[in-house]
Amino acid sequence: MIYTLTLNPSIDYVVHMDAFISGITNRTAAEEYYVGGKGINVSCILSRLGHTSTALGFTAGFTGREIENVLRQWGIHTDFVRLKEGISRINVKVKAECESEINAQGPPVSREEWEQLLQKTDNAVNGDTFVLAGSIPPTVVRNAYECFLQRLHNRNVRVVVDAAGQLLMDCLAYRPFLIKPNRQELSELFGTTLIDLSDIQRCALTLRQKGARNVLVSLGAEGAVLFAENGKVYHSGVVPGKAKNTVGAGDSMVAGFLSGYEQQEDYAYALKWGTACANATAFSSGLAEKQTIWEMFGRL
Ligand SMILES: Nc1ncnc2c1ncn2[C@@H]1O[C@H](COP(=O)(O)OP(=O)(O)OP(=O)(O)O)[C@@H](O)[C@H]1O
Ligand SMILES: [Mg+2]
Repeated sequence: MIYTLTLNPSIDYVVHMDAFISGITNRTAAEEYYVGGKGINVSCILSRLGHTSTALGFTAGFTGREIENVLRQWGIHTDFVRLKEGISRINVKVKAECESEINAQGPPVSREEWEQLLQKTDNAVNGDTFVLAGSIPPTVVRNAYECFLQRLHNRNVRVVVDAAGQLLMDCLAYRPFLIKPNRQELSELFGTTLIDLSDIQRCALTLRQKGARNVLVSLGAEGAVLFAENGKVYHSGVVPGKAKNTVGAGDSMVAGFLSGYEQQEDYAYALKWGTACANATAFSSGLAEKQTIWEMFGRL
């Protein structure tokens, strides 16, 4: 089983308008909503690839129920801790002359509810995968990922960490199976600009020395490079085309990589699936559909 964690899932309410003027009543030209969260994105792509995953995290109130409903409709198994207070957040995205976002804080999490979530990791057994993606919300303990990693340690569970900065660094000692920094995250970690592949290689190898088993560096439109545990380096480009939306491309890459690795424990094959999913999302208006993913896989 693949478990994904989304500590603070959201409903993203997207409003389109020609112009947004503050201080008056604005009217929208169109509106839509999506269920959001990095772990949820990974579960969504996994499901489109035919893998059942279990989404873990916190939900609350009517928005929390809707998030769980949508996930179940997508064929994702849900095992969230339902919080007693508040509602799962609604993030507002205004698309006018420019894009503005109002991101909510999310519902409060009690000590007891936090413990309940941690206990759910005990279901993960030998050969399972656990995906920790995104930042830690202000409503839970700062060292949340370390708490999960301590609990999963020595259980032969493959852990994936897609996070930035010190949060990622603190996870390395637990020997995560995979980390996936993008170019900006990698350069921020080392306080340097990454000019060429040798800079990227130097930083990625340092992360491996600190404990990461496989380091997948995604480089947006320039593709990705995998510094694998077997000492080999694997490169992938992108299918030529114009990107529509790159939000969630990295999450799609993580999902595709895991799917490929589950099918065949082969890094080149896993990277090819990761790239197909990431490219498919970049060329779609939301997360990629199955058909686009297969089309991209055929063109790589
Ligand atoms: N403009 C693009 N054209 C084609 N493929 C792209 C483009 N941008 C991203 N991708 C694909 O998506 C992968 C991940 O992209 P990126 O490095 O932007 O991830 P990210 O910043 O972690 O994304 P996110 O965190 O929003 O999910 C790239 O390696 C590439 O395969
Ligand atoms: Mg990312």
